[in-house]
Amino acid sequence: MAAESLRVLVHASELLTGEGIRNKDGRLIEEHDVGQIADAALVYSVKRVKGREIPAKVRWVGRTADLPKKFLKARRTDLKLRRAVIPGLVDAHTHLVFAGDRSSEFARRCGGATYEEIAREGGGILRTVTATRSASEEELFRLACNRVREAQGYGIRTIELKSGYGLDHDTELKQLRVARRLKMEFPEVLFQSTYLGAHAVPKGRSKAEYLDEMLRKTLPEVASRKLADACDVFIDEGYFTLEEGSRILQAAARAGLRIKVHADELSNTASSELAAGLGALSADHLLQISDAGIEALAHSNTTAVLLPGTAFYLKAAHAPARRLIERGARVALASDFNPGTCMTLNLPAVMTIAALYLGLSRAELFAAVTYNAACALGFQERRGTLEAGLDAAFAILPFERFEELYYRFAWPSGAKAF
Ligand code: NIG
Ligand code: FE
Repeated sequence: MAAESLRVLVHASELLTGEGIRNKDGRLIEEHDVGQIADAALVYSVKRVKGREIPAKVRWVGRTADLPKKFLKARRTDLKLRRAVIPGLVDAHTHLVFAGDRSSEFARRCGGATYEEIAREGGGILRTVTATRSASEEELFRLACNRVREAQGYGIRTIELKSGYGLDHDTELKQLRVARRLKMEFPEVLFQSTYLGAHAVPKGRSKAEYLDEMLRKTLPEVASRKLADACDVFIDEGYFTLEEGSRILQAAARAGLRIKVHADELSNTASSELAAGLGALSADHLLQISDAGIEALAHSNTTAVLLPGTAFYLKAAHAPARRLIERGARVALASDFNPGTCMTLNLPAVMTIAALYLGLSRAELFAAVTYNAACALGFQERRGTLEAGLDAAFAILPFERFEELYYRFAWPSGAKAF
């Protein structure tokens, strides 16, 4: 067998391993858990996929001065103490595959109209559904590729993406086929694709009829053809009830999919409690979560995924992040990138909002976009921290210190060193 190809990064201004966060299962994180190493080195193996060199596994991490002799011959990149290295960011909640434009709805909301009013008049999700149904698979793929490239430019190496803008059998499958093509197109990114047929009830059909299609036709096909890794439902007033959501999630779990919930976003439906009870990977949004919901998540293995970019964009009150954290819940942050309630892929900008309005500390912010977000996808065995044996999914930041990631508000994707 040929010797493995190794690469070395030396003189990173700092490297955060996140080891202590993993040891604490992402809960009650303190500053020293980030595992900060000054003047650090990282050794990793590479593999070739489609003619490109892709980082494979971390082989060693530590101080540059302690780099073992056996790695001295490997090809090295000197970061000259100007760039920090962190585990690649994980965006654990996006609606990345869609077509169309909703800027006019944003203008109406700026003039005082609410998201719910616009949705009731046939705008909102249903408007994106119309555009996504009429877009070709090629066009959806092209749009999605641009978005993945943008996400990579923020240091994102792992992305969850949902269907849910088809709301009929064929278009939901079209969205999921695009997700499958993205997995082939971007071997350096790890994706989780999620079937979110239960995002809204399509226009012109009864809810009962659509539920029947999802349960009898789409979900079984999605699972048997392995078109998605997970299933999500939007449980909220005007969307799906707790009972309907629970039926879909249980059917998905029986079919072998992981489960996630859009929970307690616009109103409290006790869907956080449901997510915890069903052993969901994550309960997301949580703007309206109750004390009972907080306790349920804190005592479960379900990650609380907060999306403060969405609360900001909707001018809604933020999720009770501090109470979740203090009660011992594992809290992650994600972008919720979608055309209605959070039109950005800039996860670092979402971290800035979380720092200011959710009151997360530096260590909590770091955990929330690395290990904890990996847990929200069930990927924590492979990703989320930088330790020997795990995936070499890292980001070299264009700054010296990790906190510049969110101190520099809304810096552009792909920025070179500042
Ligand atoms: O995550 N909550 C439901 N779905 C999206 C909004 C989607 C849209 O408006 O297009 C969300 O906020
Ligand atoms: Fe969402």
